[in-house]
Amino acid sequence: MSGFTATRCGDLRASDAGHEVELYGWVARRRDHGGLIFIDLRDRWGVAQVTINEANTSTAAYAAASSLRSEYVVRVKGRVEKRPVENVNPKMPTGEVEVFATDLEVLSTSKTPPFPVEGDQEPEERVRLKYRYLDLRRARMQNILETRHRVNKITHAYWDAHDFLEVETPILTKSTPEGARDFLVPSRLYPGQFYALPQSPQQMKQLLMVSGVQRYYQIARCLRDEDLRADRAAEFTQLDVEMSFNDEEDVFELIEGWIGRLWDEILGIDLPRPWPRLTMKDALLRYGTDKPDLRYELEIADLGEVLKDTQAQVFRGALDAGGVVRGLAVPGGSDMTRRELDELVTLARGAGARGLAWLPGGPLDKFLTPAELEGVKRATGAGEGDLVLLAADRRRRAEKVMGLVRSDVARRRGLVREGEWRFLWIYPMFLFDEDDEGNLTYGHHPFTRPMEEDLAFIDERPYDVRAHAYDFVCNGYELASGSLRIYDRAMQERVFQILGLSQETIEARFGHLLEAFEYGVPPHGGIAPGLDRIVMMLTGTDNIRDVIAFPKTQSMQDLLMDAPSEVERKQLDELGLEIKRPG
Ligand code: AMO
Repeated sequence: MSGFTATRCGDLRASDAGHEVELYGWVARRRDHGGLIFIDLRDRWGVAQVTINEANTSTAAYAAASSLRSEYVVRVKGRVEKRPVENVNPKMPTGEVEVFATDLEVLSTSKTPPFPVEGDQEPEERVRLKYRYLDLRRARMQNILETRHRVNKITHAYWDAHDFLEVETPILTKSTPEGARDFLVPSRLYPGQFYALPQSPQQMKQLLMVSGVQRYYQIARCLRDEDLRADRAAEFTQLDVEMSFNDEEDVFELIEGWIGRLWDEILGIDLPRPWPRLTMKDALLRYGTDKPDLRYELEIADLGEVLKDTQAQVFRGALDAGGVVRGLAVPGGSDMTRRELDELVTLARGAGARGLAWLPGGPLDKFLTPAELEGVKRATGAGEGDLVLLAADRRRRAEKVMGLVRSDVARRRGLVREGEWRFLWIYPMFLFDEDDEGNLTYGHHPFTRPMEEDLAFIDERPYDVRAHAYDFVCNGYELASGSLRIYDRAMQERVFQILGLSQETIEARFGHLLEAFEYGVPPHGGIAPGLDRIVMMLTGTDNIRDVIAFPKTQSMQDLLMDAPSEVERKQLDELGLEIKRPG
């Protein structure tokens, strides 16, 4: 029998008793009782117990068994026997049987691994990444690889069944702005010129709509040179979707169906549909974020109305400067210690706020009138024993601060209902956003279609213009973004202009798209869920690197292959590149 068709360790069951088998695998554990050696033999499908009795095997086979160490690779021939009742291990699927070896051969030895492959102990991440091939041997990682494979498989089947066509788009391309820096690839044939790796296939999928593909999807690799976080990788994967002659309802229905299928087939959970929707404005007001976690309440209230005549300096100052006062009630929060409150203040300061106020019991109590105190309680829904936390600031900063405070308080006080799945749509969103320097920028990307009825004030009040743009969010994670697109050349140019792009830049960067819009372009739109984040949810990890087979570190290094690395002088010469050494 060849190894490929041999019996799989993990497949052995009581019904195999009496059969001769050939097993291949890695030594998970070995126990030597002198004359009797037990090994747990592991392959991708599980672990089986092999028993080597000196009396029943050749001298060579017994010697080989005696030499075994963890992670040696072996071939075993033997006979499956039912274990005596007292030796049955109900925790192992193969626990009713053992294999009595007649022959055993070491195919490959192993050094002592830098961390145990068996067991639940989580090794240090840098070591895991350097020895990723060993890390991936661990059961936890094998499960993640398998889940990811199943997600891809279900995804292909689902979108195919809805007549979507998978089209591969280029990796060497021209930049599409998705808000990050591009990775650039120098061209050898055109020295001084560069390709950009795609931040997403956004423009290509829109061009495919001009091509009449009508329904496109792709499991697409995206590359962004941006600050990495626990849920952000530089190389990640999207399920990229685009369709023609559609509205947002079509997108919502298809996506809810797809996610429903994944949760059903992988977790056996029947998610309720349709998902709730929340406008971006309400999400920011009530939860202080565009990706609210609805597994806990803690709603934020606007206190502008009840404090409109206040003489309390912090609130007066913020309101007079056109800012806001926002507050949230912490149930039973009057038991919070001064130290906890100080930690929250530090959190708020970290987000740029001058501070965080609380009522009652804070220094502000005496500056508010009884009517104002009552108003704050009413607006936030605070009752006896509750504490109200308040932020007074520019609207965006107050929202950010309250959003952070909300999630911190929920975690700190154990208010998160674990096990719940709270999917929702954030819709509609705004066309424009403010960047960190306070300049106008796009909300989603510059191809997003504004709402017709808001065009009247696009020049006067651009920030109020809503867009046909949507995100879907689950348990505090943004899982996808999408929009209906502009399909009119003049409108697209106008949006570019409002974004401050010169006519020259528009032509140089997007001339091809604008030209395509002159050849019969269907109204179209789509979405791109982040597949890595979806696999994170399905496998219960909060570290995106866990769901990527060979990830980079947070500081963008590949510790396994040691990339990035220097290249030879000759390669630089061919590319016409000169390295400027810092300093
Ligand atoms: P956007 O840039 O919002 O939209 O990305 C869509 C989704 O991709 C995932 N994602 C990431 N996942 C891991 N690491 C990252 N660095 C990262 N960046 C984004 C998120 C996010 O919601 N072309 C548009 C989509 C469209 O309009 O159809 C786009 O790329 O889950």
